[in-house]
Amino acid sequence: MENRSFPDPKLFRTADGSLTLRSEQLDEQYHSVHGAVQESTHVFIRMGLEHVGKPHVDVLEVGLGTGLNLLLTWIRCLEGKCTVHYTALEPFPVERAQLETLGHCSELAWPGLHEPFMERMTVHRDDPWEPLGGLVFRKLPVQVQGFAEEAMADVIYFDAFGPPTQPEMWTLDVFQRMYKALRPGGVLVTYCAKGEVRRTMQAAGFTVGRLPGPPGKREMLRGTRSPN
Ligand SMILES: C[S@@+](CC[C@H](N)C(=O)[O-])C[C@H]1O[C@@H](n2cnc3c(N)ncnc32)[C@H](O)[C@@H]1O
Repeated sequence: MENRSFPDPKLFRTADGSLTLRSEQLDEQYHSVHGAVQESTHVFIRMGLEHVGKPHVDVLEVGLGTGLNLLLTWIRCLEGKCTVHYTALEPFPVERAQLETLGHCSELAWPGLHEPFMERMTVHRDDPWEPLGGLVFRKLPVQVQGFAEEAMADVIYFDAFGPPTQPEMWTLDVFQRMYKALRPGGVLVTYCAKGEVRRTMQAAGFTVGRLPGPPGKREMLRGTRSPN
């Protein structure tokens, strides 16, 4: 998939009751069919954000998509667990009408977040948004293949479409960029557990652990940048 080509996205209810977008044509969706909220909470929040465990965390997300990982992170901030500076890459934003039908904020029982969430998801700003509820948000309309910021993240939520759909996201060059984007000791988490992806991450310098996956998936991966 070279460009925005997620044909005919349709609302899809996953096994935990939460909603995502699915393309029949691609046989691909924005989240696991076994449970969108369960997957995001397990892979990115528990194994990523909470594993870092610092009072302030700098997050880089590859693939903002429907904003579910952003919201789950924001809710942790509103609960007083940490503050976050969140940078999200998204070259092909989801349309406002689709975000409205997904209704993530009501589904997560945070309806008061709807307006600030929709603003951040749909409005372009060169500078970061002012802090709200413990979170500063910055959205970059760029592809990860050109991302060159270094030592800026404690944790990377690597949430690309799967390798069969978008192999160009899972290359040595991309993981080398991700390695450099992390601070020493920082981690990259992904729902993907394929051996080839693990070996590519190792070739980029990561120490990679196989962890228990979210419901419906046996394993996931977490790569750590060397602490020195
Ligand atoms: C699996 S979805 C992300 C799901 C998202 N994290 C969520 O919570 O809804 C993958 C996302 O990667 C984005 N994407 C596609 N190509 C990309 C690229 N070259 N660089 C960064 N993101 C890309 C897609 O537009 C899509 O939104």
